Amino acid sequence: MSENPSAVRERIRTKVNELYSEIVEIRREIHRHPELSFQEFRTTALIREYLLRLGLKIEHDFLETGIVALLEGKRAKTERTLVTLRADIDALPVQEENNHDFCSEEDGKMHACGHDMHTAILLGTAAVLVEMREVLAGDVLFLFQPAEEKAPGGAKPLLEAGLFRHYKPSAIFALHCFPHLQTGKIALREGSLMAAADELYITVRGEGGHASAPHKVADPVLAAAHIITSVQYLVSRVVPPYEPAVVSISSVNGGNATNVIPGKVAMSGTLRTMNEHLRALLKKRLRQTVEHTALALGVKAELEIVDGYPVLVNHPETTRAVRQTSVAYLGEDNVEECEPLMTAEDFSYYLQHCPGTFIQLGTGKQEPYGTLHSPFFDPDESSIITGMGVMGYAAWSWLEARNAGIE
Ligand code: NI
Repeated sequence: MSENPSAVRERIRTKVNELYSEIVEIRREIHRHPELSFQEFRTTALIREYLLRLGLKIEHDFLETGIVALLEGKRAKTERTLVTLRADIDALPVQEENNHDFCSEEDGKMHACGHDMHTAILLGTAAVLVEMREVLAGDVLFLFQPAEEKAPGGAKPLLEAGLFRHYKPSAIFALHCFPHLQTGKIALREGSLMAAADELYITVRGEGGHASAPHKVADPVLAAAHIITSVQYLVSRVVPPYEPAVVSISSVNGGNATNVIPGKVAMSGTLRTMNEHLRALLKKRLRQTVEHTALALGVKAELEIVDGYPVLVNHPETTRAVRQTSVAYLGEDNVEECEPLMTAEDFSYYLQHCPGTFIQLGTGKQEPYGTLHSPFFDPDESSIITGMGVMGYAAWSWLEARNAGIE
């Protein structure tokens, strides 16, 4: 017998409201003590304690920080279905400039990307689903992932440590604070949502000398200027006009005197693409452009590319399912279509192995509000209610639908 979805929604809503003030306190506690990537020991201890209090067994410590816990639903069939809910838990090296009474107490560190919200919301979602375990048609894996903010990130080592060899989720869901959307709403997108982000390091080597005798030197400064300009032709002439892509050179370092041409200029930048084919093509063309522009100007240049996170691709089936359940939970007006974003996320690694959806959670208040990674980032805490509800109901519905398929 299947459960009545509207009765389930009401139960979730009631539980979410009951939990709200407790979860806000947890969020503030995490906010006061932000920890950088792979140093989330205090945060991990807090998560562990809460999950143990809920009666959940800590399943695995795949890495030194972060936690994985499993909730077994009581209506599961012998062929069990698993859904994974993920939160990232790390903070950024940013000095907080807000003046609320739960500001960061750690110098130069801040939850400026809302991972404190994500962590608190997932703890709250666990509390909701524990109460509903007798109507859960499968199992839920709560994945608290360290180190999203710093490449190579926490997702990749978790997968390498056997996360998906050990657990075989049929879907994975996560959400992220999105201050450009009002609280109470979420935004979704099927297919490519976030960019692959690769780091570019260019070294231009010439032969320095007296700036008054340019004919006797090989000038890396002039060549660097040409390289900066010439890589821009890639976006305007190599990338199809209907494909998003970014090439930015964002640092230039070389020379320190008016009358000396230096021997070397070092530059760095970023490449952002929305599909893996274009990503590979642009890497190749960037290398050619950098090397050959330098050669034409009588110097040598090398390009080193450090791979960042891959393109984040939301699976059509899970995304349609989340859209449907979120419309039922929040109402049609509160579920929007999301534009592609040129930022990156290591949730993309999970999506290479398992269908899933990354949800943008509206955390915007009336303006002004801080954007992500800003020292003034200040998400509307009442969005915690939306986040817990959407995640909890998506997990319940996904398992319910899969269970119906097994019957
Ligand atoms: Ni983030």
